[in-house]
Amino acid sequence: QGVTLIGVPTDVGAGSIGARMGPSALRVAGIAQAIRNFGLDVRDSGDLHGPDNPWEPAVDGFRHLPEVVRWNELLHDAVFAELDSGRLPIVLGGDHCLGIGSISAVARHCRAAGRKLRVLWLDAHADFNTAALTPTGNVHGMPVACLCGHGPEALTHIGGHVPALSPADIRQIGIRSVDEGEKRFVHEAGIEVFDMRYIDEMGMRHTMEQALLDLDEHTHLHVSLDVDFLDPDIAPGVGTTVRGGPNYREAQLCMEMIADTGRLASLDVVELNPALDVRNQTAQLAVDLIESLFGKSTLMRR
Ligand code: ARG
Ligand code: MN
Ligand code: MN
Ligand code: MN
Repeated sequence: QGVTLIGVPTDVGAGSIGARMGPSALRVAGIAQAIRNFGLDVRDSGDLHGPDNPWEPAVDGFRHLPEVVRWNELLHDAVFAELDSGRLPIVLGGDHCLGIGSISAVARHCRAAGRKLRVLWLDAHADFNTAALTPTGNVHGMPVACLCGHGPEALTHIGGHVPALSPADIRQIGIRSVDEGEKRFVHEAGIEVFDMRYIDEMGMRHTMEQALLDLDEHTHLHVSLDVDFLDPDIAPGVGTTVRGGPNYREAQLCMEMIADTGRLASLDVVELNPALDVRNQTAQLAVDLIESLFGKSTLMRR
């Protein structure tokens, strides 16, 4: 199996700057070698080159929409090309607005290949805002809505099919900060959400069993890992920390159970902000978790 790293150094969709350094921090933490250690052929394709962050206020409910569109178009093409050549793309973000380009490409690939798609959205946030609902205008709070067809045409049609995704394809895990209007909209759309209350009561094991239900050999499993999914005690290097996230053991179990399915076919690692980190520990944790996602286990179970 071939794996390709795609660096996307931007924070045009975020409310703070710094996520543009995420790809470098993940490389410094040894992401390529960590995956190579599984005997996989890892190619680092370097960074995509897109527009600067103009750091302007929102216009009609969106901050930096033209720049967000451009980065996502570039990323869509890069992810689609890797899937097309049979490789597993890992998007090194960058902020979570990049989920639009990445997952629209994955969905397009699945449509062409006749495969089912399951998206695991690991996040403290639902990222289901629209221009009318957003309190900030930051597009990193909107990718799931855009993928489901709710958003500006320039973003919803990137994968060539609107909507790119059906809410039925998505499972959100770790959610604990959702804006008022956004809550209603998530509920209306019918997205299956395993929020922190659910995880507290049922445990990570049962949560992941539910989220991974009904996968078969034709299912493409995409993981979109927003680093703010993790508890800020272990992952401080994020612009939008929310207390009360999964701890180290819960996060490891989550990754291991995904690995056990053997269906992982694409991955986003987003929202890492090295400017807010402590000695690169959040990047190191992300790499540690990605090792588990690729099947590292504590005992010789394989
Ligand atoms: N819901 C908030 C907003 O719309 C926060 C979104 C945070 N998203 C993220 N990908 N970190 O601005
Ligand atoms: Mn494929
Ligand atoms: Mn988030
Ligand atoms: Mn997010």
